[in-house]
Amino acid sequence: MEKLVIEGGKPLSGAIKIHGAKNAALPILAAAIMAEGTVTLTNVPELSDIGVMLGILRSLGCEAEQQGDTVTLNTMGIHQTHIPEHLMSQMRSSIFLMGPLLARLGRVELYQPGGCAIGERKIDLHLKGLSALGAKIEETGSKIVCTAEQLLGAEIALDFPSVGATENIMMAAVMAKGMTTIIGAAREPEIQDLQNFLNSMGANIIGAGTDTITIEGVKELAPCTYRIIPDRIVAGTVMIAAAVTKGNVTLERVNPAHLTSAIHVLKRTGVQIAIDGDIMNVSCLTRPKAVERIITSPHPAFPTDLQSQIMVLLSLADGLSIVKETVFEGRFKHVDELSRMGADIRVDLNSAFIRGVPRLYGASVEATDLRAGAALVIAGLAAQGTTIIDQIHHIDRGYDRIELMLTQLGAKIQRTTPVQTEKH
Ligand code: EPZ
Repeated sequence: MEKLVIEGGKPLSGAIKIHGAKNAALPILAAAIMAEGTVTLTNVPELSDIGVMLGILRSLGCEAEQQGDTVTLNTMGIHQTHIPEHLMSQMRSSIFLMGPLLARLGRVELYQPGGCAIGERKIDLHLKGLSALGAKIEETGSKIVCTAEQLLGAEIALDFPSVGATENIMMAAVMAKGMTTIIGAAREPEIQDLQNFLNSMGANIIGAGTDTITIEGVKELAPCTYRIIPDRIVAGTVMIAAAVTKGNVTLERVNPAHLTSAIHVLKRTGVQIAIDGDIMNVSCLTRPKAVERIITSPHPAFPTDLQSQIMVLLSLADGLSIVKETVFEGRFKHVDELSRMGADIRVDLNSAFIRGVPRLYGASVEATDLRAGAALVIAGLAAQGTTIIDQIHHIDRGYDRIELMLTQLGAKIQRTTPVQTEKH
């Protein structure tokens, strides 16, 4: 298995362009199948999750190619409504195809995506929403068959502002008969991007980014060309890496408005952040200060997807910090690995008590999920000595060649095969 080998202690410096957002591209790739013709998407990141989604689209009959950050889809040939179980288990985001397939073909057959390292990841809110729009849902074991002669607009109140459920309901509603209102919708920037993409195809949606989204059904959608927003979580990860290495990094092609809460928290630790349009400069010359309490919550609060990463910064801060994780029930898997690098963290239910230490030490560690893996990379950059990270396929799901990105900023990091790693 490939590993990442990091020589820590090098301050990051220089400029980096942030790639497109995985969590915007995945639902938009699914939504594209609702229009017949050629859809072109730009600023699409080159990630394994994107590759899996393109494979699923091909299995449905769609032509799908990625050249660099441009994806071209020809959706004319879509005829298949069955998503293979092995592809569902490979990537949970296949669930985004429910709404679009129901809207375009009136049927979708798929499987419970199952939990993952960070939690149970139920889909009850997705199913309740689609059922409210008139879909008939039959569950046999893990298999789910949804059918709908004609989807009908409805008022849907979400018990929790689920990002995926909001997106699936939006997609199913765009060609439903009549008006749909989603109350208690998720407000993430990726949902605004999906609204903008769907409206570019002729949909009639307003309210994304607020907790109430209104969709007026239209007869059909037309293909379009669309640019995906920057990845705010990749940007936040690079900002934290700059901070823990006491570096000075310029991030280009970012949208600071998508990171308000993370910027606020980083400034509270003493990190200097200068913003100029879509450019952000991040520097930290002093030991970070502890933060009394960080609570992850749906947008616009501090994002759960930066929780593992900020914990590394707090592990090196001067004092005691508390991080409370309220979105996923199992998102502290990185704590054991950070502790092996010298961090002093105690977990009690969904809160982590972090007592800052002067330094971390390189170790052989294992990525358990995407963002936990990113946190271990950050810890390796800051640590004294060599860190070897295993199971890095988790990281490749959300970061495009992370070692190249960080090498560009002066980090000593390389991707090795088992033979090469032995030498370290
Ligand atoms: C999206 O996942 C993101 N993934 C996640 O990013 C992100 O952490 C999450 O939103 C929260 O911001 C993509 O967009 C592809 P949710 P999603 O539905 O849609 C519960 C990353 O690292 N829930 O808002 O699955 C669920 O169990 C990934 O890039 C239900 O109970 O998130 C969880 O506890 C990780 N029933 C909470 O809601 C449902 O029907 C949040 O889930 C749906 C969700």
